[in-house]
Amino acid sequence: MADIKAGAKGLHIGFIMDGNGRWAQRRGLPRTAGHTKGAQVFQDMVKYCKQLGVEAVTFYAFSTENWKRPKAEVDAIMRLLKEYLNRAFDYKKEDNRIVILGDKTPLSDEIKKLMAEIEEGTRNNTGMTINVAINYGGREEITHAARELARRAARGEIQPEEIDEEMLSSCLYTAGQKDPDFILRPSGEKRLSNFLLWQSAYAEFIYMDVLWPDFTRKDLDKAIEEFLSRNRRFGGI
Ligand code: FPP
Repeated sequence: MADIKAGAKGLHIGFIMDGNGRWAQRRGLPRTAGHTKGAQVFQDMVKYCKQLGVEAVTFYAFSTENWKRPKAEVDAIMRLLKEYLNRAFDYKKEDNRIVILGDKTPLSDEIKKLMAEIEEGTRNNTGMTINVAINYGGREEITHAARELARRAARGEIQPEEIDEEMLSSCLYTAGQKDPDFILRPSGEKRLSNFLLWQSAYAEFIYMDVLWPDFTRKDLDKAIEEFLSRNRRFGGI
């Protein structure tokens, strides 16, 4: 445990919260029951990562593709997000900074208002950064950044030749944050699914067979151990 705590300090961990539907189906429950349990695991992981001294966490809560799901399921996920964003005000006490990643345009006015309050209210906090990806897609994020740079160039504020990786990074939803050290995907799937495409260029990927609603603190310990055992070379030797 001491080693895990030392190793976890300062990390940025990305979580793809997968397997909620299967968890519920296996119990004969509606898929939404899996999301409810998944949201509880989200909250516990936030607490545990904080205890471990993790610098930033990013949770994939709703992708740009998730709108294809039945309306009742989308509505249930949005209700949970609202509920947990409301609770997010508690995190202020703990000095966490909450950042919402994604295109907020199609979200309800109520959720947008809540997000604005939380982001504003925690902007200057210096504890752990909690990114919640909602209506998020890596390709959409890069397109959004490209559009912003094109606008600046059209206004004559920058020359196209000046655009470099740093400038593009500064237009992403994660502007100013360190890249994720590892991305964790439970549920046995081995895909990135449009999550943090730009930011994960050098991230380690850790796949686990446990479904997200069953994911425990011990599972996170195992993932951190696995990450610490890998030899990262960043293109060097
Ligand atoms: C993927 O599992 C999960 C989602 C698309 C939704 C995740 C949302 C939550 C955990 C609740 C709200 C989030 C927060 C931050 C409070 P899946 O449904 O694709 O599972 P399956 O692959 O087994 O069908």
